[in-house]
Amino acid sequence: MPLIVSFVSQKGGVGKSTLARALAAVGATGKLKVKLADLDVQQQTSVRWGKARKQRGNASPINVGAFRSFEEALVNSDAFDLIIVDTPGHTSPTTGTVARASNVVVVPTSATIDDLYPTVLLLRALEEIGISQNRLAVALCRVLEASEERVARNYIAAAGYELLPGFIPERASYRNAQNRGQALTETVDGAANESADVLIESLLRKIAEQSAVMQNGNGD
Ligand SMILES: Nc1ncnc2c1ncn2[C@@H]1O[C@H](COP(=O)(O)OP(=O)(O)OP(=O)(O)O)[C@@H](O)[C@H]1O
Ligand SMILES: [Mg+2]
Repeated sequence: MPLIVSFVSQKGGVGKSTLARALAAVGATGKLKVKLADLDVQQQTSVRWGKARKQRGNASPINVGAFRSFEEALVNSDAFDLIIVDTPGHTSPTTGTVARASNVVVVPTSATIDDLYPTVLLLRALEEIGISQNRLAVALCRVLEASEERVARNYIAAAGYELLPGFIPERASYRNAQNRGQALTETVDGAANESADVLIESLLRKIAEQSAVMQNGNGD
């Protein structure tokens, strides 16, 4: 059975597609068979990135497609090790369906209260529909200066949740890389790649933990 990792948020533009693509790239480079399912059929951010990536050649293959429903995204899922689901920039009944089926649900947020507040609301809503805290991963993105990390960690901790170790700073190098079909870990800026590596590695550890839970049959 493939592992399913989804990226969800109540607010748009927080970094779902950006992190989903980074995880896909790191997974594929690690020889996993990766499907990146873009559920935003209007924007198709991940799909367009996938095309640019393919045109570059040389990159480890990622199967990227747009799907009108989560069920469609799961067709032929046994052919993959990792299914990454990039959801649209708002919540809908599909968010719950996707989250329930996911081994890990990633909620990206910036460090502004404008983004942290809806992030906590969403985390609570996910818990209310039966998704335990250990399947939730909050990822700090778009950080402008180091002091923002402390503010965000304190805010999320006060709400009873935890941020993944590491964060993604706001950088033009990430945008340029994504424009070219590359991921956060593949920019021309070594320090930016390193920051992305730290966060994606934290996420991979979380995924590995949840994969072990699934194999032991203790999943919820
Ligand atoms: N760390 C960053 N530094 C610079 N630009 C970033 C960073 N993260 C994301 N962006 C840019 O910000 C915009 C929003 O990011 P992204 O598309 O990943 O968010 P999203 O949550 O998927 O948005 P939506 O809700 O619309 O699907 C994109 O233009 C992306 O390239
Ligand atoms: Mg998106």
